[in-house]
Amino acid sequence: MVEKVELGNTGLYVHPIGLGANKIGKEDKETNTDYGGEIINAAVKNGLNFIDTAYIYGKGLSEEIIGKTLKENMNRNDVILATKGAHRFEGDTMIVDNSPAFLTQTVDESLKRLQTDVIDLFYIHFPDEETPKYEAIGTLQQLKEAGKIRSIGVSNFSFEQLKEANQDGYIDVIQDEYNLINRKAETELFPYLSDNNISFIPYFPLASGLLAGKYKPDTIFSEKQKARPQFRDEVYFKHLEEVDKIRQIADNHDVDVAHIVLAFYLTRRPIDSVIPGARNSQQIADNLKAAEVRLTTEDIQIIEDIFPV
Ligand SMILES: NC(=O)c1ccc[n+]([C@@H]2O[C@H](COP(=O)([O-])OP(=O)(O)OC[C@H]3O[C@@H](n4cnc5c(N)ncnc54)[C@H](OP(=O)(O)O)[C@@H]3O)[C@@H](O)[C@H]2O)c1
Repeated sequence: MVEKVELGNTGLYVHPIGLGANKIGKEDKETNTDYGGEIINAAVKNGLNFIDTAYIYGKGLSEEIIGKTLKENMNRNDVILATKGAHRFEGDTMIVDNSPAFLTQTVDESLKRLQTDVIDLFYIHFPDEETPKYEAIGTLQQLKEAGKIRSIGVSNFSFEQLKEANQDGYIDVIQDEYNLINRKAETELFPYLSDNNISFIPYFPLASGLLAGKYKPDTIFSEKQKARPQFRDEVYFKHLEEVDKIRQIADNHDVDVAHIVLAFYLTRRPIDSVIPGARNSQQIADNLKAAEVRLTTEDIQIIEDIFPV
């Protein structure tokens, strides 16, 4: 049984492997199935307790499906719910808004969709250009004191924006892109987070599947996948060779490449939990194995050499 870990200093205890829920809603609609319900039920049944969603994932649909599934099938206290807000629409135009009035409104709307009294972790999903960062975070602090959220996060803030946002020390969690292909966060951000007891949640941990070790030189990608930089010809082949080198470590531990990759992230000091997305319940159950992998110092050094910062 894997021990839950405290997310930074929040007092929230999460499984080291969480669930990224950005496919929930979109996938259900496209495939006309209960993808979201099945994924969440399988996740919680297998011991996962940390679900990461956002308003923008299906304009509230991911949150709605999560809220309904939790209400019908589980005890709310068994799950740690993280969501994000900052987007609103005027007609078809998407606006990023961190104003105190909008943040208060969007938290209230997320609470309704999630069918809960409190959101365990609420992130400002993207910074806007107008609102002073400390003011936006001050609003979340008031919502925390009012009992509507339990902890405060930000996502996609620059390092400078983060420091301004955290001037009162209210931030608990940062969520940004980080994976073996893109380890930039380790240079400047991670030391700041460790010094300030802020937890880091990496998004795109598997580089949209590329680091799961399942792709081959002749894999055919959709146009959408091909648009991502890591799937462009030479870059893609270079990454395939790098991923192949991880296979030896995976074989030594009798697990798959994805498990080694996720386990590596958990060796980084500010990372308490990772939130890979999953296409199906099988992938969820599979990814949970990563929490049981104990990488040796030598394994870690080999991985760092293959994927330098
Ligand atoms: N804060 C932000 O702005 C932001 C931005 C992006 C994402 N996120 C969060 O981060 C989460 C994760 O991002 P993501 O889902 O886009 O990328 P990801 O975790 O890097 O990749 C997920 C994909 O990896 C593949 N995969 C997962 N487990 C696997 C396994 N065991 N074996 C083989 N393949 C496996 C699946 O691809 P296939 O579909 O090909 O099988 C899955 O769809 C999101 O759900 C979201 O919660 C946040």
